[in-house]
This record gives sequence, structure tokens and C-alpha cells, in this order.
Amino acid sequence: MTAVADRSLGPELARTESIGPDTDVLVVGLLSTDDGPVIAAADVFDAVLDAGTREQLLASLLAVGAKGKAEELTRIPAPDGLGATSVLAVGLGGRDALDAEQIRKSAGVAARSLAGTATAVTTLSGLDLGAAAEGFYLGAYTFTAFKSDKSAPKPAEQPLQRVEFLVPTADSGEDELFRAQAVAEAVATARDFVNTPPNALFPAEFAERAAELARAAGLDVEILDEKQLEAGGYGGIVGVGKGSSRPPRLIRITYSGGDTKVALIGKGITFDTGGISIKPAANMENMTSDMGGAAAVIATALVAARLGLPITVTATVPMAENMPSATAQRPGDVLTQYGGTTIEVINTDAEGRLILADAIVRAGEDNPDYLIDVATLTGAQMVALGTRTPGVMGTEEFRDRVARLSQEVGENGWPMPLPAELRADLNSKVADMANVSPHRWGGMLVAGTYLKEFVPEGVQWAHLDVAGPAYNTGGPFGYIGKGGTGVPVRTLVAVLTDIAGE
Ligand code: BES
Ligand code: MN
Ligand code: ZN
Repeated sequence: MTAVADRSLGPELARTESIGPDTDVLVVGLLSTDDGPVIAAADVFDAVLDAGTREQLLASLLAVGAKGKAEELTRIPAPDGLGATSVLAVGLGGRDALDAEQIRKSAGVAARSLAGTATAVTTLSGLDLGAAAEGFYLGAYTFTAFKSDKSAPKPAEQPLQRVEFLVPTADSGEDELFRAQAVAEAVATARDFVNTPPNALFPAEFAERAAELARAAGLDVEILDEKQLEAGGYGGIVGVGKGSSRPPRLIRITYSGGDTKVALIGKGITFDTGGISIKPAANMENMTSDMGGAAAVIATALVAARLGLPITVTATVPMAENMPSATAQRPGDVLTQYGGTTIEVINTDAEGRLILADAIVRAGEDNPDYLIDVATLTGAQMVALGTRTPGVMGTEEFRDRVARLSQEVGENGWPMPLPAELRADLNSKVADMANVSPHRWGGMLVAGTYLKEFVPEGVQWAHLDVAGPAYNTGGPFGYIGKGGTGVPVRTLVAVLTDIAGE
């Protein structure tokens, strides 16, 4: 199985000035107003959807009860002469609440409902081409690499193949579509990694696949194997990885685009059993997603290059499998993190912070201006914020900037504190620090407090805990299906773009 064969690509995206003869569906947005639904932005495309056709269309939609409520779907035969076979109206809700994220969600819902369709044309581009393109691409994403012929999608279940975005003139929207496609593909890359099962994606394989993508994009790649990690003093990564027959790795991917340096670090636990502090069996399969942070930062380094951002981005990604075995680390073991800090491992299930601390210290040696780490780090993140809201911690100003940008792109990161008093809870009798606190309160913040010890002074730092948001165990919603979500790739791209001053 090659890395390329395992990659899912979403639909083809293109711009168009007309509704071509091969169009199966025209997707329009429907706003809800006090006077009933109205077709959004349709007048932008007067040439392809004239006033008479719009009137006819709206009358048909009204006749079948369309209201324009957010994400409502109404499918009707196309009015005569339109070119498409049918029309899908997707609700956008009220005008006041209409933002890019609503357009993304509505486009995603439309895309999901169009399985079995070859070509859709949409007017949603008249509202926000970039958001519409992201929504369609991500909504149509499916991961079928492990379906045999016995259960491969039938033609009527195949994801939407092609989406054409109406634009007013041939030269409009090119840059917007390029960027949206690059970002959406980065999200899909992260999703693919997360969705690949843990027997297929173990540390060496994960590093190799990431390296392949990075080399193909012309980026610098460095991989440390278990011997080099041991010799280099990466005690956290070695300690966590030593219970597995599949040894750990540290991969570093660098895109050099400018003087400002951003370090990205992502938790790459390819499977988290908990180790000797083993987890209960129920839902343990979800721990295939414990490399969601790694997947996100790798995909982000790749897209930074694709977008040509004028900054330097280094992704430093520790990868290990947390297994219980005769060679596994024990509760009570003392390990030495990269850089010399000794740690009493009280709970082998608090493994993320152990591999991240090594990687943060290593990344700090490059003297980055900004350091962002991303991890499916604590169940406490979900207790505090639920399954869809990343917790953002770090140095205050940068934390708030990252959270604001995350909200702007619809990933909704929320700022959280690192109360100073939590540090004392990590004191250890035998080592410099323990890896867990002796109580259950504020677990997300305790983990952030642990990481803070390893972040160099003066660096602008953000820590994103995406334990819930990286992996959707519920039903599909908006442009997000079951499984890997790709969160927080779009936050990271927004932050890098902001830092780059673009
Ligand atoms: N990978 C888990 C966190 C997690 C839990 C992610 C659920 C996604 C869904 C992490 O390694 C872990 O086990 N954390 C422990 C920490 C505890 C031992 C201090 C937890 O949250 O229980
Ligand atoms: Mn764990
Ligand atoms: Zn974990």
C-alpha cells in the first residue's frame, strides 16, 4: 500500500461563467427573511440565472415548503432552460448571522447530500468563493482506503466528483480558489492520516509517509530512529515508545520561506492503549486518533510551502505507540527529557506530554519566534469545553491571537488559563517533576502547565488541546464527517498567514 494510494482526494474544483451542458445539479443558497426565503447572491449571476428564472425557481421552492433555515435542503427539478437537471437549495439562515462559516457548513451539507452526483454548479461563490469551495471539498471528503470490493461505495454512494463555482468574469476568483483548495487539501491530508488505522500507521510508517509528502513538496526532512533518539537523549519519546514492538521516531520537516521562524509541534501517538496504566476497553479504538496533532502540523507545514508564505516553518513531530508489555515503562520509572529535566512517570497514560516535552525542547534550539504545539492531550479538554471546542493555552497575547483566529475560521478555539498554583501539583519526591498531578481537577490546564516548563523564555507560545475536536465519533455535521476532522489545520494556516502579514 503506498502513501499516495491511501490519500483521499475530494472533488475537482473549478470556476465557471456559465452552467455547462453536463451539469447535474445547480446548488443555490436560500436566505430566510421575515418575508420568506430569498435566493442569495443570485443577481450576481444575472446572465446565467435571469430574473424570470429566479422567480420561477423561488415559486417552486416555496411550493414545496422551503424556508431557508440554516442547512435545510430542498431538491427540485430545474426550471426549463436552466441547463442543470435539478436544483438543490441549501438554507443559509438569516442574513444577520450569515458569515463564512455558515457558508462553509451549508456547502458541506449540500456536498454530503450530493453523493452519486458527477457535476454540481453553484452560486454560493457569489457570497464567498473561498468558504464555499472549502465547504464543498470537505463535505464531499470520504475515506475508503480500507473498504474492499465487498463494501466499496456503489455508484449512487460515490462522493460528489466535481464542483464548478460561478464567477462573474473569467479572471475573477482564481487566487481565492487556489488558496481554498490548498487549505482544504491540507485538511484532507490530516484527516487521511488520522483515519488510517493504527496497524497500518505506526511510527516508522507515519514518518515515512510524511517524509514522502514533504520531499515531494521540496521541503527538508530529518528523521531520527530509535537508536538516534536513545543516543540523543530523547528520554520521553524513548520511554513512551519502549513498550511497543514498533519503535518511535522524531521527524522534522522544514519549509524555509523567510526570516520569521515558527515552530510547530504535534503529538504523534499512533495508538494510545495507556501503556501499563491501561485504558478501559470501551472506546479504546478511538485512540487511533491520538496522532491528530501530528497530522495537523505536518499538513500545515506542507500547505505553508504550497501557499509560499514568507516565513520559515519547522514541524517537529514525535511519534510513538503507547503499549503495555514486558518492555514498557512502569509507573514509578524516572526518565530524562531531552534537555535534562528528570520526570517521575506516575501514570503511563499521560504519555503525550512526555513525547511533546522532548520535541518542544528540540524545537526551541532553533530559536523560533513562535512555538505552537497541538495535541489530543487530555480527556479533561472534553470535560471542560465539549467535543468541538479546542482549548488554547500559552503566553497570553499569542494565546488570545490564536484563539481569535481559530474562531474566525470556524474551528472555535477558546482561550484557557494556566493558573500558576498548578505547577506545585507536579512536584515529585524523586525527580524534577511528575507527569501527573495527584488530583483530577483542571486536567487540561495541568497538562499545559507541564508543557510550559519546556518552552523557552521569551517565545510566543500557544498550546492547543484538540482531544475532542480532532476526531468526530458522532454523526456527520456541516462539512465534517465521521472520523478525523483535520482540526486545527485551518487555525494553524490562519495563524501562519497572520504572522506572515498577509
Ligand atoms: N490521548 C489521551 C487523551 C484523550 C482522551 C484524547 C480521550 C482523546 C480522547 C491522553 O494520552 C490521556 O490518556 N490523557 C489522560 C491524562 C491523565 C492520565 C492525567 C486522560 O485524559 O485521562
Ligand atoms: Mn494517554
Ligand atoms: Zn494519548
